[in-house]
Amino acid sequence: MAEASVDLPAEILLSKRVQEMVLDNKEPPAPYKCRDDADSEDDDPISMSPIPLIDLGCLLLSTSEVPAQEIVEVLEKINAALSSWGCFQAIGHGISNLLLDKVRQISREFFAQPMEEKKKYAKTVVDFEGYGADPVPEEGQSLDWSDRLFLNVQPEDQRNYKFWPMNPESFRDVLLEYTDEMKRVTELISRAMAKSLNLHENCFLKQFGERSQLQARFNYYSPCKRPDLVLGLKPHSDGSGYTIIMQDEVGLQVLKDDKWYKIPKNPHALLVLMADQMEIMTNGIFKSPVHRVLSNSERDRISVAVFYTPEVGKEIGPEDGLVNERTPKLFKMVKDYADTHFGYYQRGMRALHTAQA
Ligand code: OGA
Ligand code: NI
Repeated sequence: MAEASVDLPAEILLSKRVQEMVLDNKEPPAPYKCRDDADSEDDDPISMSPIPLIDLGCLLLSTSEVPAQEIVEVLEKINAALSSWGCFQAIGHGISNLLLDKVRQISREFFAQPMEEKKKYAKTVVDFEGYGADPVPEEGQSLDWSDRLFLNVQPEDQRNYKFWPMNPESFRDVLLEYTDEMKRVTELISRAMAKSLNLHENCFLKQFGERSQLQARFNYYSPCKRPDLVLGLKPHSDGSGYTIIMQDEVGLQVLKDDKWYKIPKNPHALLVLMADQMEIMTNGIFKSPVHRVLSNSERDRISVAVFYTPEVGKEIGPEDGLVNERTPKLFKMVKDYADTHFGYYQRGMRALHTAQA
């Protein structure tokens, strides 16, 4: 007998995981349908992708070990990439392939478990932390064809271990190891970005503050038999300072000059993606790009996004060194911008205008 196609409200749909709907072999319900502009996903080799690929290797060495010119060239590439694309794929970041593989592995293993196991870490529809979907968006906004596990990882006293999976057994240790590496890499990148703008190397680290936040979002994108109708994640910019993303398959796209560009698959690379607060701190020089995730009819996809955000309650704003007569202040001082951002995100909008000077 054909099932009546009633469209359930978002609250009820969000109490069910996308992974469960896929197992039931259902067509996506209406609130997930959000697009009709299906574009083909062709697999260009990495060498053909226009997304900048930057080897940070020489920044890991002490300055006496590397010719100064080599460092200047890397900093120029970082500046050019972030001023035009707002992102680059980083290699030579110093995180071992073994650890990157382990992070992909624990993520896959977590989502592959039976639903009862994952629901031990379930969030409520209004919460952020835990396993589930984003909090219910405003009326009329579409839902994402994905499930995720969201965890506060830094500062340490903000961790809620009740949401940290006990299975797979190595989950916690691997996440702790990855967190340490993310701290190191965010320091490295924050310094490099400052130097690339001829600013004091610690200026962004100071703005992020002693209690800067790292949050890990493990995303699971189920296949969808109608990838032309849904999105794994709707178009948005991030509300953090910047975000570091590891993926196993293609699917993520960034928008540049009204065109979507695919982030190519590269198991050793991390995507460094500017978010709104870096656009504010650089007085608009570095761009916080809109990005989205496509669904795929055949394969699933894992990504781990780590959001690096200034400490709670700290005011941030354009660096003085980037403001002068020719380039006036574009943004004012803001604090807890990520909260403002989320309010707009829920309505399908960007929040950057609220920070305009
Ligand atoms: C995000 C995001 C991209 C991805 O979590 O904000 O953009 O590839 N993720 O999952
Ligand atoms: Ni994002």
